[in-house]
Amino acid sequence: MLLLVFAHPYPDRSRANLALLRAVEDVEGVEVRSLYDLYPAFDIDVPAEQEALARARVVIWQHPIYWYAPPSLLKHWFDKVLLRGWAYGEGGDALRGKRCLWVATTGGEPAAYGPDGMHRLPFSHYVPPVEQTARFCQMGWEEPIIVQGSHRLSDEELAAMGREYRRRLEQLRRDVEAAS
Ligand SMILES: Cc1cc2nc3c(=O)[nH]c(=O)nc-3n(C[C@H](O)[C@H](O)[C@H](O)COP(=O)(O)O)c2cc1C
Repeated sequence: MLLLVFAHPYPDRSRANLALLRAVEDVEGVEVRSLYDLYPAFDIDVPAEQEALARARVVIWQHPIYWYAPPSLLKHWFDKVLLRGWAYGEGGDALRGKRCLWVATTGGEPAAYGPDGMHRLPFSHYVPPVEQTARFCQMGWEEPIIVQGSHRLSDEELAAMGREYRRRLEQLRRDVEAAS
């Protein structure tokens, strides 16, 4: 019911994303697809991905921010899986009405995303390409979970964010159950 598309190039070396993933992977109804584990050679199984999406009522994209964007395999997944006539365009209604939650971690701290910071622009300026990808496919856009300054967060702070992430997924599950 909740498809968690996880895109970390080195899952074994992840700290922030792994902590978040561990906090939610056993939520009832969650199916995790770790793209870099499934497709280390970028040979995405498009029918399998589309079937997983079709089963889901909620789609979660979780990953670290690399160069202000999702890691390349998730971008490739967008390119290969979200096809015209399936995800958008004429007859492309497969994702209509599903809810999309974006969960991303940054190295940069909130202050680095501002006029005096090294990333210059508020993080909200980097959101539109991902948000519009979901909206173009007629998915509902949920308030994202953006974990900033992930390297400096203590284990306790990360655990608290994991609990909040879990609370959000459980709420989404209840919402879609109530709507069906
Ligand atoms: C290739 C690369 C590009 C990155 N680009 C950004 C960036 O644009 N903005 C940012 O805040 N952090 C950037 N980072 C830092 C990562 O977002 C950070 O290491 C990650 O969120 C930590 O999560 P993890 O512990 O799950 O790996 C980058 C890291 C790498 C390796």
